[in-house]
Amino acid sequence: MHLTTDKIKERIETLGNTQPWNHAFDFGNGIKTPVNTTTSFGKNVNKWERIKPVLSQLLTKTSTVLDVGSNDGFFSIRMAEMSQEVMGLDVDEHRVEKAQFAKEILKVENVRFEKLNILNDDEAARLKKYDFCTCLGVLHRLPDPFKLLLVLSQKSDTLILEWKTHKGVGLEEASLYFSPATPKPNDPYGEQFFLPSFACVEKVLEKNGFRYFQRLNKSHSNRALLIASRRTLNLKVEKEPKLVSKLNNIKFLTKGYLRSLINIISSDR
Ligand SMILES: C[S@@+](CC[C@H](N)C(=O)[O-])C[C@H]1O[C@@H](n2cnc3c(N)ncnc32)[C@H](O)[C@@H]1O
Repeated sequence: MHLTTDKIKERIETLGNTQPWNHAFDFGNGIKTPVNTTTSFGKNVNKWERIKPVLSQLLTKTSTVLDVGSNDGFFSIRMAEMSQEVMGLDVDEHRVEKAQFAKEILKVENVRFEKLNILNDDEAARLKKYDFCTCLGVLHRLPDPFKLLLVLSQKSDTLILEWKTHKGVGLEEASLYFSPATPKPNDPYGEQFFLPSFACVEKVLEKNGFRYFQRLNKSHSNRALLIASRRTLNLKVEKEPKLVSKLNNIKFLTKGYLRSLINIISSDR
């Protein structure tokens, strides 16, 4: 597909009118998707900076990757540059349409996108097994995180998971905090359900035969990043000083308990 700069800009606008873009893309020649790249760890460019050092140790030109909840396709496309084949799937057809458009503009051949509901047994059964499975920003968005982890475990022996945890919960507690939030208009699958702790996800994955866990958290953030595998991986990771991490955890816990205390005091039930 060859489109002029004006046509590309027009298409970005049309796709964004159906549903706002989530991923910030830079297509060159000053053409960008209209996304605010704040410092939030949930934003694609910042998330990519966090996971790239790990992915570059794991992925090789022979790797196959499944990207669950690929959204506008940013991560699938970037991972395709480092691997043999990437399959990005998303339940939202408008996200798949955007990802397909980005792939064509960026001329990346070894990535494909499909509309698929990972929690639907028949649809998930169609997927083969991959060397790696990424599932970024999805775990807290699905009503059944236990089933999601089970399906991911069937599709790969090595998972790269990123999700939102609850600030008021200690990392060592295997907890699942219910934090419902309704989706924004035009983003029907952007709902929020449960915020699992690191230990919660690890305990579930242990049931599925995973033994190796590498937590890659920044203690001042509530975004968890976990590498889980059925085999031992030799990853070089930058560790935060223990004291910084402990102090930040105490800060988060204190904030969470204070919030609960205020709720109790202000409740008239
Ligand atoms: C918050 S976005 C995260 C996207 C991207 N991985 C990232 O990190 O920026 C969550 C994505 O999961 C998709 N999703 C939600 N439920 C799904 C399901 N049951 N099967 C497949 N994708 C799903 C949504 O449509 C959405 O694109």
